[in-house]
Amino acid sequence: MGGMTPLPAPDSALGLLLNRRSCHSVRAPGPDDAELELILRAALRVPDFQRLRPYRFLAARDEGLDRLGQAMQRAAVAAGKSAAVIERSLRMPHRAPLVITVVASPQPSTVVPLLDQQLCAACTVLTLQLAARALGYGGLWRSGWLMYDRGFHRELELGEDEQIVGFLYLGTPQHAEETPHEAVQDPHDVLHWI
Ligand SMILES: Cc1cc2nc3c(=O)[nH]c(=O)nc-3n(C[C@H](O)[C@H](O)[C@H](O)COP(=O)(O)O)c2cc1C
Repeated sequence: MGGMTPLPAPDSALGLLLNRRSCHSVRAPGPDDAELELILRAALRVPDFQRLRPYRFLAARDEGLDRLGQAMQRAAVAAGKSAAVIERSLRMPHRAPLVITVVASPQPSTVVPLLDQQLCAACTVLTLQLAARALGYGGLWRSGWLMYDRGFHRELELGEDEQIVGFLYLGTPQHAEETPHEAVQDPHDVLHWI
C-alpha cells in the first residue's frame, strides 16, 4: 500500500493522525481556557448529519475534579460496588488536570437515527484528543462501568436519553513518549474490498 510514499512531516495533518497515541499518564498543566476553546472548536467540526449538535461536554478541572469524583463515589455506593472501588472513585478524575465527560445528547429528529447521533458524539472524543495533541497535550479516552451506570448519569443531571460516550483525560504528558507503538498495524489486515 503505497510503500514508496514519503512519510508526512510529524506536524502535518496526516502526520498527526499517523502518530496519534494515547497518553496514560498526564500531569498539570492541562489546556488553559484559550486552548480549551480551540480544542472544542475542532470538536464542533465533526461530521454531523443535519447539524443537530447531538453532544455536550462536561469539563472538570480544579474543584470540578473533586465534584466529579464525589459524583462517581456516590454512584459507586448506589451501585453496590466494593469498598475498594468506592474508595478509588473519589480520586479517579484527579488522574488528569482536565477531564471532559462527553455526552451524546440526541436531538428530536425523524431523519437522523439515535446511533448516528451517538456516533457523531463519539467523533468529538477523538477530535478533542487530536486537537489537544496538536497543542502538545496528551490524553486518554476512557469508558469503564460509570459510562453505563444510569445512576451516575443522574448524578450529572443527564437526561434519560443522554449517554456518556467517553471520559477524556487531558494534560501534559508525564513522559516524552510514554507508550511507543511497536509495529503499526498492517492496513491489509483490516481492508477488505467488496
Ligand atoms: C470507547 C473507548 C473506551 C475506552 N476505554 C478505556 C478505558 O476505560 N481504559 C483504558 O485504559 N483505555 C480505554 N480505551 C483505550 C484507550 O483510549 C487507548 O486507545 C488505548 O490505550 C490504546 O492506546 P493508543 O490510543 O495509543 O493506541 C478506550 C477506547 C475507546 C475507543
